[in-house]
Amino acid sequence: MQVKYLNDLATLVSLCKRRGFVFQSSEIYGGLNSCWDYGPLGANLKLNVKLAWYQAMTRRDDIVGLDAAILMHPTVWKASGHVDGFSDPLVDCKKCKNRFREDTAKVNGVVTCPRCGATEVTESRQFNLMFKTHMGPVEEDSNVVYLRPETAQGIFVNFENVATSMRRKIPFGIAQIGKSFRNEITPGNFTFRTREFEQMEMQFFVKPGTDEEWFETWKKVRWNFYLDMGLRENKLRFSAHGPKELAHYAKAAFDVQYEFPFGWQELEGIHNRSDFDLSQHQKFSGKKLEYFDEAAKEKYLPFVIETAVGCDRLCLAVLCDAYREEVTKDESGSEDVRVVMGFKPRFAPIKVAVLPLSKKEPLTNIGRELRDKLALDWEVDYDETASIGKRYRRQDEIGTPLCVTVDFDTVNDEAVTVRHRDKMTQDRVKISNLKAYIAEKLINF
Ligand code: GAP
Repeated sequence: MQVKYLNDLATLVSLCKRRGFVFQSSEIYGGLNSCWDYGPLGANLKLNVKLAWYQAMTRRDDIVGLDAAILMHPTVWKASGHVDGFSDPLVDCKKCKNRFREDTAKVNGVVTCPRCGATEVTESRQFNLMFKTHMGPVEEDSNVVYLRPETAQGIFVNFENVATSMRRKIPFGIAQIGKSFRNEITPGNFTFRTREFEQMEMQFFVKPGTDEEWFETWKKVRWNFYLDMGLRENKLRFSAHGPKELAHYAKAAFDVQYEFPFGWQELEGIHNRSDFDLSQHQKFSGKKLEYFDEAAKEKYLPFVIETAVGCDRLCLAVLCDAYREEVTKDESGSEDVRVVMGFKPRFAPIKVAVLPLSKKEPLTNIGRELRDKLALDWEVDYDETASIGKRYRRQDEIGTPLCVTVDFDTVNDEAVTVRHRDKMTQDRVKISNLKAYIAEKLINF
């Protein structure tokens, strides 16, 4: 058997639409550029990914959760540097009028239009990536608020609230999942870069002087998280930011990159943000944000080690990583291709499919009853249409680890056949023992 992994994004985009993972936003109106909706299976997958991240963070006894508002006081974005500095240089091609980022189109100092190849472009202008809106019924400058471009600031401005209410001692972290918005000039590659996306960020507050050690610790922790998720190790790597790439707040930064079908790209950023954010918020709000270290009897502004990953980007990596085609040849030499989404069971949108062999009672009754029982513990699909072979293939294509078949013998032996997605082996299991069997198989898949 030959196994082929994903090497073009179009194949995945098509599967995602066909099987209910991801749809183009507002599709019946012609779509909205770079916005995507998660279908029923995509929504499950995303929830599973978020849960894995949130649990990995908050099961530690030195991290707590937060859910801050998207809209924040406009001065937050002055303090954070986003009003003045969160912009990209834009140029227009004089030949085809294409508008694009100057920095990404510059090779050996020459800017080349990515659409037509011309090198004559306008002077560059700074374009701020924050979405603006107005609060209240009057549209005037004084009512301007921004859709947050990162979730991190919600954590910084709540540092004092969390530390006090939760009686936290440094070092400790705050973890948050939420939507962010950036008016990206060149969104693309499906859900990789979009204008509305979800971030999973954790800010870890440490004593100055211990920051470099914590930075190394977090690099290891995050690397192991991805391995634990089941991403292939040869598809992951670290990439250090050089001095020119460092964000305005960062003392040091590493990206965790994943090899997508369109190349190695950033999945997560790990930053040493020093005390930049807390000192800026202290300055702009006039409120003291220093931490009093009782043991050392000293006051200081904590440094921050940040780990920040896009949830949509991680879901895309999980989808790319899971896709495989198993090609076999029959005696006549003709090829048979089995498409499998090889998710780790915890990420699979559907854990178990219940498939009665016939559309007739009593098999359907037994099947529906089983579906309802199993659905108390897992996401379950029930399917009685098409041949059993076709139904197995459908479940393989959405990554369902186990299929439970109710057949004509079930009526007499009160047992069902359970088929394993990867090995395609089948076990006969008593219905009375089915839950325990499934629970064990999903853990030791
Ligand atoms: N608080 C730090 C911060 O926001 P970032 O590197 O700009 O750092 C962190 O963003 C992560 O958020 C990225 O590694 C990426 O996974 C995700 N992300 C950023 N912009 C995105 C976009 N336009 N679309 C999808 N994900 C994005």
